[in-house]
Amino acid sequence: MKIRENVPISELTTMRLGGAARYVLEVEQPEDVEAAYEFAAERELPTWVMGGGANTIGHDDGFPGVVILNRLKGIFVRKDGELVAVEELSEADFSDEIILVGMGGEVWDDFVKFAAEQGYTGIEAMSMIPGTVGAAPVQNIGAYGQDLAQVVESVEAYDTKTNEVITLAPPQMNMGYRTTRFNTGEDAGRFFIISVAVKLRRGELTPPFYNSLQRYIDEHGVTDFSPMSIRKMVCEIRDEKLPDPEKVASAGSFFKNVGVAPEDVANVQERGIPLWVNADGSGKLNSGWLIEQCGLKGKELHGFRVSDKAALVLINERAKTYADLAKARQEIVDTVREKFGFTLEQEPVELVART
Ligand code: EPU
Repeated sequence: MKIRENVPISELTTMRLGGAARYVLEVEQPEDVEAAYEFAAERELPTWVMGGGANTIGHDDGFPGVVILNRLKGIFVRKDGELVAVEELSEADFSDEIILVGMGGEVWDDFVKFAAEQGYTGIEAMSMIPGTVGAAPVQNIGAYGQDLAQVVESVEAYDTKTNEVITLAPPQMNMGYRTTRFNTGEDAGRFFIISVAVKLRRGELTPPFYNSLQRYIDEHGVTDFSPMSIRKMVCEIRDEKLPDPEKVASAGSFFKNVGVAPEDVANVQERGIPLWVNADGSGKLNSGWLIEQCGLKGKELHGFRVSDKAALVLINERAKTYADLAKARQEIVDTVREKFGFTLEQEPVELVART
């Protein structure tokens, strides 16, 4: 286990903000997980788990505790209850339905790529989401009509309350739009995600497609909806619209889309506000559109820029402090509230000691 001291959170996160973390530990094997928590307990320090840092915002005064980086690697197929590394499998081992298991520190997009290449549908629309497999269930990542909740079979986690490794089934995860048991309420931060199992099948996505994907399909006359074809389209759309975290500092979507109750959907539609209707009749209203309609797209605010390609994305051009971020956020939230009456909520989490 690698141990570093006084590491700037700005270097660990894609938004590139935040003062120093007292300790940073890198967990590379399952045995390290317990050791990492013991390290923190011995020093009576709070802990915080991080994957790729793509959805985490640091504070100016840093973190007086232990940041644990999940670097557990590997992709497996579960066969007769046993995990078999994909490198050891032959073509015949891949049946029409599989349970694919990714270790928490695996790069999420490598996991998606592997599944799509093998012809499995279920996560291909979530191509190129920055971050790690272990972070995926924490906020129930989603894109272009798919989210993790639709395919997650189980999560293996270290429970910091009981010091045991347990397996959680979907009903124990309370997954909603970007909210789960892992990031909400008293259990937020309780579990270290060791691995994630998803249930996938060979096949392809069927309409209706998410509006921005449908637009691409129409414009390019695409008729192939195989997992690799969807992956390719999603990668092109994302390349075009979303900043590459390696080159441009941001945390992806900075605001959530706004949830709309089923009884309010018609009213929002009548106001001409674009909205995605979920299978249960509830709606999700495009916050990017609201921000754009307020004239904020491409605008510079306190060292940040509202992306001129995707208004939900806030780019850190030259801001150094969380205080600047707070000012930029306030201006956007106030402007949208005044014009439309909706209160935008921040999407990325803030790295602070949990009580
Ligand atoms: N729109 C605008 N102007 C904009 C952006 C969006 O009018 O500047 C409207 C358009 O009507 C567009 C619709 O919003 O058709 C949807 O836009 P887009 O497909 O770009 O997706 P999004 O709703 O802005 C969400 C996720 C993204 C995810 C995309 C694709 C959230 C908070 N964001 O964004 O996730 O990649 O859908 O499915 O749910 C992230 O969470 O970090 C993230 C990037």
